[in-house]
This record gives sequence, C-alpha cells and structure tokens, in this order.
Amino acid sequence: MEKVLELISKEVGDAFEAAGYDRELGRATVSNRPDLCEYQCNGAMAGAKKYGKAPFIIADEVAARLQDNPAFEKVESVKPGFLNIILSGDFVRNYIVKMLHEKRFGVTLPGHEPTIILDYGGANVAKPLHVGHLRPAIIGEAVKRILKYNGNKVIGDIHMGDWGTQMGLVITELKCRHPELPYFDPDFEGPFPKEPPFTIEELAEIYPAASAKSKAADDASEEEKKAAKEYKAAALDATKRMQEGYKPYRAIWHHIMNVSLPDLKKNYDSLDVHFDLWKGESDVHDDIPGMVEYFKQHDYAHESQGALVVDVADEKDAKEMPPCIILKSDGAALYATTDLATIQERMKEYHPDGIYYFTDKRQALHFEQVFRTAKKTKLVMPETDLRFVGNGTMNGADGKPFKTRAGGVMHLETLVQEINDKMYERVKASNPDMPDDEARSTANKVALSALKYGDLSNQPAKDYIFDIEKFTSFEGDTGPYILYTMVRIKSILKKFEAEGGNVKEAKLGNPENEAMKNLMLLLTRFADAVEGAAKDLAPNRVCAYIYDLSNAFNSFYHGTKILAETDEYKKESYIALISTTLKILETCIDLLGFSAPERM
Ligand code: ARG
Repeated sequence: MEKVLELISKEVGDAFEAAGYDRELGRATVSNRPDLCEYQCNGAMAGAKKYGKAPFIIADEVAARLQDNPAFEKVESVKPGFLNIILSGDFVRNYIVKMLHEKRFGVTLPGHEPTIILDYGGANVAKPLHVGHLRPAIIGEAVKRILKYNGNKVIGDIHMGDWGTQMGLVITELKCRHPELPYFDPDFEGPFPKEPPFTIEELAEIYPAASAKSKAADDASEEEKKAAKEYKAAALDATKRMQEGYKPYRAIWHHIMNVSLPDLKKNYDSLDVHFDLWKGESDVHDDIPGMVEYFKQHDYAHESQGALVVDVADEKDAKEMPPCIILKSDGAALYATTDLATIQERMKEYHPDGIYYFTDKRQALHFEQVFRTAKKTKLVMPETDLRFVGNGTMNGADGKPFKTRAGGVMHLETLVQEINDKMYERVKASNPDMPDDEARSTANKVALSALKYGDLSNQPAKDYIFDIEKFTSFEGDTGPYILYTMVRIKSILKKFEAEGGNVKEAKLGNPENEAMKNLMLLLTRFADAVEGAAKDLAPNRVCAYIYDLSNAFNSFYHGTKILAETDEYKKESYIALISTTLKILETCIDLLGFSAPERM
C-alpha cells in the first residue's frame, strides 16, 4: 500500500508538473512545525535556482493548482517559498479504512521471502545467565518479530557457548569433590550413569567455585598462586580432553547440557524469548579441521608466529585491523574459528540471505574480523548480508554496569523476580480487590513490558541506566504507560459492548476535532514505523511510534466524551477509532515481545 507521503508527493508532484516544473520537486515530508501544518514541501525553494524564479512565485503557482484537490483541506504557500499542507478529513479516514483491509495494515512485503538467521542468545552453558545476556535476548527477539512481520523468513539461533573452558572447570571441580565417580576411574569401562552427578542448583554453585579456584588474587601467597595455576592447568587439560572426545568427559558434558538446557529455556521463556534453533559452539566442532584445511589449500590462511591467521586488513582502514587468528600456536581453535565454522554450516543448511548477530558492542572487532574472513574465504557469497548489532551496556544508577546491591554479578532470574515483585505491589495498590493469581499474572506482564520497553526504547548501541522506579511507572515513556493506555481502551470497548454496542460493526467517520485528527494521522504512519524499524534493525523506532500514538490517544480521550456522546454516528466513529488504535498498539507490542493484561 502506498504511504501517505508517497500519495501527497504524487499530488503535489502533479501540480508542479502541470505548472511546468519538474515533478520531483513535489516530494513532501512530515512537517517540522506541527503547529502550522501536517506535511510540507520545500520543492519551490529547491527549484528556484533552476527556473530562475523567486521561490514564492513557484510555490504560489503550485498552491493555486491544489486548492480544489480533495486530498487536502488546505495548501498554503508561505514566504519565502514553502508549501504548508493540511490533509482533508476524508483523505485520512479513507486511508485508515483501506489500511484496515490490507494485509499487515499496509506494510510493504518483499516479492520473495529473504531468509535471515539471527544469532542472539549467546548464553554460556553451565554459567548462570546474567544481565549481560539480557540485551541481546530482548533486542534479538524484537528484531526477529519485526523482520518476520516485514515478510522475511527468520530463523533465530541461540548459539550457546557450550564448548569452552567452563566445561573443563566444572569437570575439574567435580573430580575434586567426588573423585570416586566412575568418570574419574581410568579403568571404568562404562556404560556411564544416566543420572547426572549434580542438580541445577549444584551446578550453579560448582562453576563459580571452580572459576574462583582457578584465579589467585594479586596479594595471594605464593602457595595459593601455585594452587590456582595448577587448578587452571587441570581445567584446560580437561577441556581439551573433553573436546578431543575422551568418553568419560564427554559423558559429563552431556550431563551438563541436560541439566542446563531446561533451566536456560525456563529463563528465556520468562522473558518471552524463543529460539528456533538451540545450537551451540559444540555443533561445529567436528567441521573445524576440514575448514582449516580448506583455508590452507586456497592460501587464505598463513602461519604467523606459530599461529594460523587470515589477513583481513584493508588499505582503507582508518584503524588497525589485526589478522583473524584461526588456530593458536598450540593448534587450539578460537572463538573466531567456531564462528566461521558456524557460518559455513549455516550457509550449507539454510542458504540464508543474511546473518545478523546480537551481542555486546565490545565484540565489534571480533565480528568485523569474522565477516571479512568469511567473505575473503568465500564461506559466504559476496552479497550475503552479514551484520553485527552491538548493544550498549545496561548500567546501574552509578553509571557502571548493573550489579546486585552487594556488588556482585546480577543473575537474570533475580532481576526478573525483583521487577515482578515490584510490579505486583503496584498492581495490588491500584486494584486492592483483584484476586491474587490475576494480580500475579498481570504483574508479570506489566513487569515484562517495563523491562523490555525500558531497554528497547533506547537505540541498541546506546548504554542506558536501569532505573526500576522509572521503568515501572505508569506515566511517561514506559512500557506500563503503553499497557495502561491499552487497558483504558479495552475497558471503554467492554462498556460499549455491555451497553449493547458492536465494536466490529462501528464505522470510522471523519475527524471531529484536532485531537482526533492527530490520532488518525498517527495511525496512518504505522507502516512507516514498522518498515523503518526493520530496515535499520531498530526496535526503538516502534517504541517511539507507540509512545506518540499513546499520547495522541490520551489527548483525544481527555478531550472527548466517548461513551457519553449522544450523536450515535459520532460515538460509533470514536469507537472505531479507538479500537483501531488498540489493534495497532497490540501489533506493535507483540513486535516488541510483550503483551497487555485485561486490566491493571
Ligand atoms: N557466548 C558469547 C558470549 O557470552 C556470545 C555468543 C554470540 N554469538 C556468536 N556467534 N559469537 O559472549
């Protein structure tokens, strides 16, 4: 469906052409002076030089030709040569009615369905999920939904860190605690027990304990430093043996995975974040030797100080671009190696048109090296769209990365619990009669909106301060404010139906007042917001849009008697308008990854 701006530009372009000028000059924009007009066109200013005429003369001529155009209520030429445009009520109403009949409210869908893989969980198995993993999950999930809505085939992959040193640390600590287990008896022939040797609670405690033991503080005694060094060496050795396929350690690896995955799923579910693929670094382990061989055969990789590297620097680089290290001098594969093997596997399995990665922006250099290597070594096509969406940090009130009150790393579960509890208090306070289980589930929904909107309303790359008071407030640019607006609409619609009205049958009329017109204008901009968000991978565009839309609705609501309106035609029109507003808000929050309760 053509956008409002395109339709206006066409009409104004026709007028330029009819007056003897280039029709391209008719390009309109949203007004930057909403107090004066809704849209504007500065084409007369741009054409003045070419046609050797004063801009206001051109603008006058064009405006004269638009006076009887039914699309406009008013087209005014103002000095020095602007065209100020106000749309007609008819035009705006017809546009919305048409939008409601379109698939996806008029979002332009591509001719073919591009396949995009999104890599956005990044959780590390055996380590607790902490707030650092929150932003990639929230942003990635929103982008996944936005791209899908815009007609892409999207595959979300969690890409777990499930092959690293943390596995060796857990094995080593387990051996310290339970040397009697069969995994540590070199003579044991198997089969190994089916029951895992730890619970999730134990595992959650084992990793931090092991990690602490592998490090010694600067002021530690020589003896302590030696012990830490030995412990770490043992963990690295265990990791290596596990990776090489030593059966007892592979068996422990399976236990770690089996115990961790349900817990990870539970955590992501609580955030309404869902993956199509639960793959990880381990999945490509066996592909690495073949890929390395291929790099060598084609001379893409060469040896440098004992390591195997691919040069990726370009003469146009403003900053130094170090080579991408494929194998360390001891032959070990690295983070980049795994990412490259994963790209190779993804191309083979899914033939994606693009792969987009969501992690902390401090990984930008890593991904730049990986992308360049992938292109250079032809693991991907020249046109494969590899993109990195680096997120900024979620900070505490002190401006430093968010911590627990005690100063430790904040676990995701704890954070979600805290915000749920906070919201529960608020919901209970404003609805003392609400049954407890409804209050709980309402609170969880509103809390999720607070958390996600608080995050997504910022550009992904920006750091932001997590302010629980602000994020959970029912007023201001917050998730709960949006939900509150929706709940308000739902309650009006319910009353209307209770009084015998039929929401579905209600017909939208022309705007009756300025607030109504404003709300209608915002509704016409839905597709622009959603398409813009997809193009720039910027869910913040959807947030900004629904904040404006909610404000426009609330101004209308405060200035208009809806249910008390005695003119039935007007009343129906108001109902049609607010139910459309609700539909659009519902669609948008679903794209952002949260939902609204019935009341709050
Ligand atoms: N596990 C990594 C981390 O915690 C994030 C993985 C991101 N994805 C990737 N393909 N490298 O930092």
